[in-house]
Amino acid sequence: MNVPEIIPNHVTFIMDGNGRWAKARGKDRIFGHFEGVESVRSVLETSVELGIKYVSFFAFSEENWGRPQQEVLGLMDLMMRSMKNEVESFLSNGIRFRVLGNLQRLSPELRNEISHLEEITAGGDKMTMIIFMSYSGQWDLRQAAERMVSDGGDDISKYLVTAGVPDPDLLIRTSGEKRISNYMLWQLAYTEFVFTDTLWPDFRKEQYLDALQEYASRDRRFGKVK
Ligand code: IPE
Ligand code: IPE
Ligand code: MG
Repeated sequence: MNVPEIIPNHVTFIMDGNGRWAKARGKDRIFGHFEGVESVRSVLETSVELGIKYVSFFAFSEENWGRPQQEVLGLMDLMMRSMKNEVESFLSNGIRFRVLGNLQRLSPELRNEISHLEEITAGGDKMTMIIFMSYSGQWDLRQAAERMVSDGGDDISKYLVTAGVPDPDLLIRTSGEKRISNYMLWQLAYTEFVFTDTLWPDFRKEQYLDALQEYASRDRRFGKVK
């Protein structure tokens, strides 16, 4: 494997293009979501190999609740199944699993499964995998501001759902769209962005290594002079 010279600490993904991938094959959108799970698996495996500490995925936005009920239910079902399928792999690879977002909107069954998986993987010290579910950046800022004010606090980052998680170094968005679609609005302040036309179900190790090479070539200045 052609290992990039600079490895980011936290890589986050806006996994987009599943619907278009399925449509191009004359299939229902949910097939694209199923195939997208394989891409998540591939990215995780490569990330473990490279020693990346945090990998996160935007799996379902607050706005995605507005999709047809059949698709929403299909996605919730896929989330449930995927978690059950991955337990062993998380445990054997030392992966700590977390889900962040407005989880009150999820079914009690899904919430229970999430809590269970979070508990049993809490000791994972090789990598943290985060799924953003029912998440939006504006919602996150709103809930953080409310809690901060009632606490009399002054550091908003401590109240965001990502408290304690380092900000992403690299954001990869697939499918050719060049926007952040209400993802982490505060946390992406100095993140490097890589946009690729590849649809998420086609995004595998090769495409990931390309994006990581691109990241390694970037000059991060954080507003300073070098
Ligand atoms: C990304 O793929 C997955 C979710 C947003 C849940 P899409 O479902 O948005 O696929 P496209 O963008 O319609 O192709
Ligand atoms: C962004 O994708 C949200 C997720 C990947 C979960 P969308 O497909 O919902 O975004 P838009 O509608 O193209 O901005
Ligand atoms: Mg989309």
